[in-house]
Amino acid sequence: MTVEQRYRYVYKPTVFAAGLVPAALLLCGALGWFGQDLGADPVARLLHSCGKTGLNFLLLTLLITPARRVTGWNNLVRLRRMLGLFAFFYLLAHFTVYLVLDRQLDYHSVLQDIVKRPYITIGLAGLLLLVPLAITSTNRMMRRLGRRWQKLHSLIYLIVILGVWHYWWQVKKDIRQPLLYAAMVAVLLGYRVLIRVIQRSRARRNASAVTSKSAPATAQERT
Ligand code: HEM
Repeated sequence: MTVEQRYRYVYKPTVFAAGLVPAALLLCGALGWFGQDLGADPVARLLHSCGKTGLNFLLLTLLITPARRVTGWNNLVRLRRMLGLFAFFYLLAHFTVYLVLDRQLDYHSVLQDIVKRPYITIGLAGLLLLVPLAITSTNRMMRRLGRRWQKLHSLIYLIVILGVWHYWWQVKKDIRQPLLYAAMVAVLLGYRVLIRVIQRSRARRNASAVTSKSAPATAQERT
């Protein structure tokens, strides 16, 4: 099997099936199948599980680049779009649970929440920013947008920061979990900053090496 076939027929279907497991567990819980249930507060359970799973997928999406560099498995990038779309799927479900089950489509109270509870405003900003990324995730859009695609998709960094901020802000006492997420985001984004700094300083060093090599030639030319 070629690498392409392995990704197409084995890895991608496996990741796809794994991505559906949290949704399947929640569905079984909601329907009472296989002895599953959603506990005393089913709406809160759905809301929290979808929010957490969405955030986990955002982090997995961001993990692809460092994982490629560290392992040399460049083809991991083939899984990135699916992970990003799963993040969008679970966060959209998170929002739908909030809107339909928690607020029961009471748009007035949703608007009040957006204005009065900053963590809701931040979460909504994160979700809205994810929409153009999901829409432009196709190969066709990638080709059409060219260099602008990369710029647009850099929004993922802002989105994940908003996501963790949203999580942190709503936690009342025990901040250990959001702190752990903030640390993971700091590592994932810090890694990128570090790589960029190294690349820039290397480029500067190369440029100065080129000019110092050409300088004597110019001096020779003058003599
Ligand atoms: C990037 C977008 C978002 C991310 C990553 C995200 C993530 C999360 C996470 C991780 C939690 C906590 C789960 C837990 O405690 O186990 C949460 C809770 C919650 N989120 Fe979001 N969320 C996002 C967008 C939104 C949006 C758009 C809304 C609604 C407009 C929303 C409303 C809520 C609510 C109401 C809770 C529960 C708060 C509580 O229990 O007091 N989130 N979210």
